[in-house]
Amino acid sequence: MQTEGRASIRVKTFAESVSDPLLRSALDMDGGEEARHKVVLSKLVEAYGIPLSPEPDYPPPDDPEWGWLVTGYSECIDSFFAFGLFAMARRSGYFPAELVETFEPVIQEEGRHILFFVNWAAWYRRNLPWWRRPLFAFKVARVWAFLIWERIGIARGIDADGVAQDANFTMNGSEALGDSLSPGAMIDLCLAENERRMAGYDERLLRPDTVPRLARLARRFVK
Ligand SMILES: [Fe+2]
Ligand SMILES: [Fe+2]
Repeated sequence: MQTEGRASIRVKTFAESVSDPLLRSALDMDGGEEARHKVVLSKLVEAYGIPLSPEPDYPPPDDPEWGWLVTGYSECIDSFFAFGLFAMARRSGYFPAELVETFEPVIQEEGRHILFFVNWAAWYRRNLPWWRRPLFAFKVARVWAFLIWERIGIARGIDADGVAQDANFTMNGSEALGDSLSPGAMIDLCLAENERRMAGYDERLLRPDTVPRLARLARRFVK
């Protein structure tokens, strides 16, 4: 829920900085979907009577573009694993069909978000004057460094503020669901699901490829 809350404010803040009406409306839709995801999750938690720690504030980022880039690239990482994990959850038969149906469009919307994001990034880079491109590339590199650092913290069970959290979604989620699925099979499933979820869109659009490429590389070292 916190991830969706933060994504929503970051996308909305960036949308406000954009003057092109078509791009602005696409961003507003994206931010609106994140806000809705948070509501859907809150209803799930409520229905199962799961107590949550109180929600933090979601302050708008000081640099709207930084917030948008962090959200975009972190969704590229998280959605890739969520695709596989969701397929695993569906196959396990552990969850009621209605619950799977409720979250199916949420997962596909995340797929659309990363598709939109990588195409926005390519378009934005292309339209920057040449002398601003190195600075943008440096900013993107800083975003990746931040995301890797953040995920090391998550893997150790500590969030960005140094608070212990149970947010290691991919690891704990897959352990809870499929002790029969090896890491290699899990990567294969993520790759196949990524392919399937990205298949239906206009062929001229770029596909998010950084995380799938890294996964294919990692796969070579996993038995
Ligand atoms: Fe979302
Ligand atoms: Fe999203």
